[in-house]
Amino acid sequence: MFKIIFLFTFNMFLFFSNLFALPSASVLINTLHTTLLLKTGSDQKLYQAYFGSRLTNTLEYDHLPLFLEAYTTSGMNNLFEPAIRVIHGDGNPSLDLRYTATIQEQPEPNFTLTTIQLKDPVYPFFVTLHFKSYYKEDIIEAWTEIRNEEKKPVRLSAYASFMLHVDAASYWLTQFHGDWFSEMRMEESRLTSGIKILDSKLGTKTNNYQSQAFLLALNKAATENEGEVIAGTLAWTGNFRYAFETDNNNTLNLSAGINPFASEFALPPGSSFTTPAFIFTYSLHGKGEASRNIQRWAINYGILNGKGKRETLLNNWEATFFDFDENKLSHLIKDAAGSGLDMFLLDDGWFGNKYPRKNDGSSLGDWQVTKTKLPHGIGNLVKEAADKGIKFGIWIEPEMVNPKSELYEKHPDWMLRLPNREEDLSRNQLVLDLNHPAVRDFIYNTLDSLLIQSPGLAYIKWDCNRYLTNAYSSYLGQDQSRLFIGYTLGWYSVLKRFRAKYPTLPMMLCSSGGGRVDYGALHYFSEFWPSDNTDAFDRIFIQWGYSYFFPSLAICSHVTSSGKYSLKFKTDVAMSGKLGYDIVMDALNDQEKEYTRDAIRNYKRLSGVIWHGDLYRLVSPYEGGHAVIMHVDSSKNNAVIFSYNLHTPHFGHTNNTRLEGLDTVKMYRVKETDLYPGTKSGYDFHEKLFSGDYLMKIGLNILRNEALSSNIIELIAENQP
Ligand code: GLA
Repeated sequence: MFKIIFLFTFNMFLFFSNLFALPSASVLINTLHTTLLLKTGSDQKLYQAYFGSRLTNTLEYDHLPLFLEAYTTSGMNNLFEPAIRVIHGDGNPSLDLRYTATIQEQPEPNFTLTTIQLKDPVYPFFVTLHFKSYYKEDIIEAWTEIRNEEKKPVRLSAYASFMLHVDAASYWLTQFHGDWFSEMRMEESRLTSGIKILDSKLGTKTNNYQSQAFLLALNKAATENEGEVIAGTLAWTGNFRYAFETDNNNTLNLSAGINPFASEFALPPGSSFTTPAFIFTYSLHGKGEASRNIQRWAINYGILNGKGKRETLLNNWEATFFDFDENKLSHLIKDAAGSGLDMFLLDDGWFGNKYPRKNDGSSLGDWQVTKTKLPHGIGNLVKEAADKGIKFGIWIEPEMVNPKSELYEKHPDWMLRLPNREEDLSRNQLVLDLNHPAVRDFIYNTLDSLLIQSPGLAYIKWDCNRYLTNAYSSYLGQDQSRLFIGYTLGWYSVLKRFRAKYPTLPMMLCSSGGGRVDYGALHYFSEFWPSDNTDAFDRIFIQWGYSYFFPSLAICSHVTSSGKYSLKFKTDVAMSGKLGYDIVMDALNDQEKEYTRDAIRNYKRLSGVIWHGDLYRLVSPYEGGHAVIMHVDSSKNNAVIFSYNLHTPHFGHTNNTRLEGLDTVKMYRVKETDLYPGTKSGYDFHEKLFSGDYLMKIGLNILRNEALSSNIIELIAENQP
């Protein structure tokens, strides 16, 4: 590990500034292909001199103009959206930040930590910018620590994680928005002058209407392989806000961070506040490269056990809903094992005794197994699964409470609800107050007890099915300004405690589908449930949206009875993510059962490439009747192509699809796989050998005119001369 310290203390600043012009400091944050350069001006303010494709000639850094402060303040001469806004204890509503020091260290060969200290020349108020730059993945994480050493509290009403200033002729923002059942709809628009805000005020389930992932193309709308693109997201499972402000010079100033809405708070003397990390990357080669940078980073650093394996499973939610008993579960467990799946996941409806859970109207909070429904307990089901050679997982929604529950009766002060107003129920439930230490203990102990009582439990699906409305914490009392932030931090503290004891237990992040999908949470979770919409056609679009920011191994995708499509189409859609099932498998006919067993076997064979390979989006469902994606492993020896024919015309010519990411000189055996029993591949290239060069320049005629059909094609490099 090496460490460089450019220390220029504030006292030195005052002393030297009277004597001669100050030396300027340059802070260089490089990754393999990008440069972020921050420099001080003669006024000792810190400016963002450059962010973009890697600059090679350090001698030319002096040519870069310095006019945009790296972390803009408010109350003095900045007339645009500030990164930070404070009111000091004496009422002074301004902040002036001057550079004092930089520390750079390299704890591992692949990443560098950079810390830049700034200080107000008059007030003992400090801002420290932190950067963690991942060399190979071309990713930078940026976050900020704000420290008040004044004698009185300082009010904070803006506290971005970081800002980027970008200079281009035009800016094209791709956002991902939607709602329950229609998550991650992709939309691109040209930014006009003024501010475009992407934010959430939902408190929990914060991504339900708007994802915190975005792509920003410079100069022209980018394609998968062409154009300059910045991709960004925020590691925060709470209210977030991005302001994309195009100023009078047509410069884009982007501030990213927690949404200060309803969260303007006072920072007490002697304390500090640390923002979550803004994660971003830059690509000179379109959205595809930006997305692969994020995915590689996620696999290596961003997701719990990103480099590891995932387990295929049978979930009973859409198979039974609340209507199950031990006998039904036994059959499902047997079917899961018989089909070759790794696990059975018991969903909602297993808990509550005074008020047994029969529908979504009761029992959340009473996390004891319903004795009348499952008299032999969870442990017995775990054992039954183990006897059949599979694992057992369980659903839980531990942040919530139904008024019809023992928990609600016992702890009226534990939930978030406004005094003097009617309770605002959503899905018949309220949210527990994670600001309250007793609530945090309760949630931790609930999970811990479950795992202690049933030691074989191998998986948890953690759900969160409502927003924060009418939110008020009786624990916080008069000052509610930390409610939203405190909720998210409280949630993280439970997860941190849980992970200290159970570091590797796989967990699915769920929030009525994809209401909570971000890298703040995925640090603790191995995968997520992208949508309650399991219609295979809709899922192609939903999974397409997620694929820009999340690797396939994290995107749970289940075969269900939703939609009138062939079993093969449904399975092929599910196989491009983390495969699972949510059907009564025994209701399949013999041929379907045979196909399903083969499909699971195929998936296990291909899953290394699907989970850890590079993703190329070849044909977009947004542009016509087809969607094609391709995964290529790092050795470029194995690849898998998923091709979906949507609402295509029944006749007409289809063009070749050029493949990507292969080795030009390698020879690949191209084979259609996952064929339905009794069918043969209709492709004339099936079983033939092609060079990577041919496949990437000429391509293959993969697309078909048969609507709502699909094909999976496997490529294996052969040792050919
Ligand atoms: C949410 C989840 C579903 C299921 C139900 C159970 O809607 O998204 O997958 O677990 O809750 O109530």
